[in-house]
Amino acid sequence: MPLVVRPSRIHSIGVFTNMPIRKGERIVEYAGPRITPEEADRLYDGAPRTYLYGLGDGKTIIDGEGLGAYLNHSCDPNCEIEEIGNRAWIFARRDIAAGEELMWDYNLYDDDSPAPCHCGSPKCRGTMYSREWMAKMRRKAREKKAKAKAGSDHRGSAF
Ligand SMILES: C[S@@+](CC[C@H](N)C(=O)[O-])C[C@H]1O[C@@H](n2cnc3c(N)ncnc32)[C@H](O)[C@@H]1O
Ligand SMILES: [Zn+2]
Repeated sequence: MPLVVRPSRIHSIGVFTNMPIRKGERIVEYAGPRITPEEADRLYDGAPRTYLYGLGDGKTIIDGEGLGAYLNHSCDPNCEIEEIGNRAWIFARRDIAAGEELMWDYNLYDDDSPAPCHCGSPKCRGTMYSREWMAKMRRKAREKKAKAKAGSDHRGSAF
């Protein structure tokens, strides 16, 4: 597959195709050594840029290297990632024209550091976190606020 890495308007560098790609085509592997979530936290906590993909088994992280790990995120992506066995592959979600940047939806989770999205799509949700994760974070924040309010109401009535 004739892929090139070059500057991207989304972020730093990204991966582009020199040839048209048909919907459903397998493009490139998200390859790299396997590490545990704990190792990933220890190595990369707070890093501004990471190359990590968590496999669906919940206990394996691919510490990405090679072309597959250089795709940027988009909220309206032309690619998607799919696991086959314990390997992760990038597939085309739609027909892709020569010259287009390849992007997939990272759907980040399990973190609360900011991850603003600059994909520029009209469908941009403003973050690289998944909708489900954002809803969970909002729920947690509401619960925390309610707990704090209950605590202050209780303290108020004691005096
Ligand atoms: C796997 S790297 C992608 C390649 C990266 N552009 C580079 O130059 O190395 C993932 C990192 O790229 C950045 N990134 C990718 N997509 C982005 C987006 N839509 N908005 C903001 N930052 C993005 C984030 O810093 C993220 O941690
Ligand atoms: Zn976006």
